[in-house]
Amino acid sequence: MDDRIVSTSMHADEEYMENRIRPQRFEDFSGQTAVVDNLKIYMQAAKIRGEALDHVLFYGPPGLGKTTLAGIIAREMEGHFYITSGPALSKPIDLAAVLTGIEAGDVLFIDEIHRLNRVVEEILYSVMEDFRLDIMLSKGMGAGVESIDIPKFTLIGATTRAGSLSAPLRDRFGIVEKFDLYNIDELSQILRRSAGILGVDMDEASVKLLAKRSRGTPRVANRLLKRVRDFSQVKADGTVSTDVVQMTLDALRIDSLGLDSLDRRILEFIITKYHGGPVGIDTIAASLGEERVTIEDVCEPYLMQLGLLQRTPKGRMVSDEAYRVVGLPKDADASKKNSGEEQLRLI
Ligand SMILES: Nc1ncnc2c1ncn2[C@@H]1O[C@H](COP(=O)(O)OP(=O)(O)OP(=O)(O)O)[C@@H](O)[C@H]1O
Ligand SMILES: [Mg+2]
Repeated sequence: MDDRIVSTSMHADEEYMENRIRPQRFEDFSGQTAVVDNLKIYMQAAKIRGEALDHVLFYGPPGLGKTTLAGIIAREMEGHFYITSGPALSKPIDLAAVLTGIEAGDVLFIDEIHRLNRVVEEILYSVMEDFRLDIMLSKGMGAGVESIDIPKFTLIGATTRAGSLSAPLRDRFGIVEKFDLYNIDELSQILRRSAGILGVDMDEASVKLLAKRSRGTPRVANRLLKRVRDFSQVKADGTVSTDVVQMTLDALRIDSLGLDSLDRRILEFIITKYHGGPVGIDTIAASLGEERVTIEDVCEPYLMQLGLLQRTPKGRMVSDEAYRVVGLPKDADASKKNSGEEQLRLI
């Protein structure tokens, strides 16, 4: 799954490139205007009061800039930026280690915060609320709790699934912001900037074409751009034209909507096996041999943005448009039924 070109999670070899084109300042961060505008106000107010920014929770699909924006906030607030993740903080001592270096106004970013271990999560409550770290002393030192004061810092948590966060944890974030998929103009702007940094010569039509196929996700846009650059250097003179972009997309089997084979398999499965739905997410995942989170976090947000899929209380349903997209007639099932009836009558 992680090898899918449209996978929104980060490939190992991408870290270097990510750092080069990852925006460092608000001016370079396109889109998510509602989130950015709110944050600028909260940051300015915190600065006026001479306080740290309230704790922030970012949620939304992968690759939309949660880590990037957290870094920008740290820089604008002139604090250090520390990055860790829920799974990395497996023991209270891991959290204590991270917090010991913290200074007032610093930003601690916890990625995948929904995957925090229960014990660590409970210790985090008083850290967030009272800036107090309660550590259980080991038996030899006499039972009890030692409390350590922590300078007032900002915790920024990120998660692809806000629903998986416990209510007490969610309630301790003063600021909660949702990231949405980007539109074509925003993705075009991101692609133009990245192309500039990578030294890729690209006309406007090519930028638009690539933006349309990037499933609303800057990480996918930047990844496709890298592949387009490869094709332009090998198959053309290094200049990117719409022909080169199309050649790349065809080679990667990304269709005109930016769907890849897994997206199409989901739609086909619901149409052919469940007459368009509703069908439960677990059934879809098990039948396709894919992880449920992949389908929920990566495929579905984009399929829903395109209006091809709906989440209903009874399960997933496809729209009429989905039949057209996968090239199956809407009345495929009905016509089979009819012809069956006809045959019966004939007999
Ligand atoms: N608004 C944006 N403007 C320009 N580039 C962006 C923007 N958002 C993201 N990017 C680019 O996309 C890449 C992925 O962003 P980022 O790592 O911040 O996503 P994320 O939401 O933290 O993903 P994950 O949930 O997988 O951690 C970044 O390297 C950055 O270059
Ligand atoms: Mg991230």
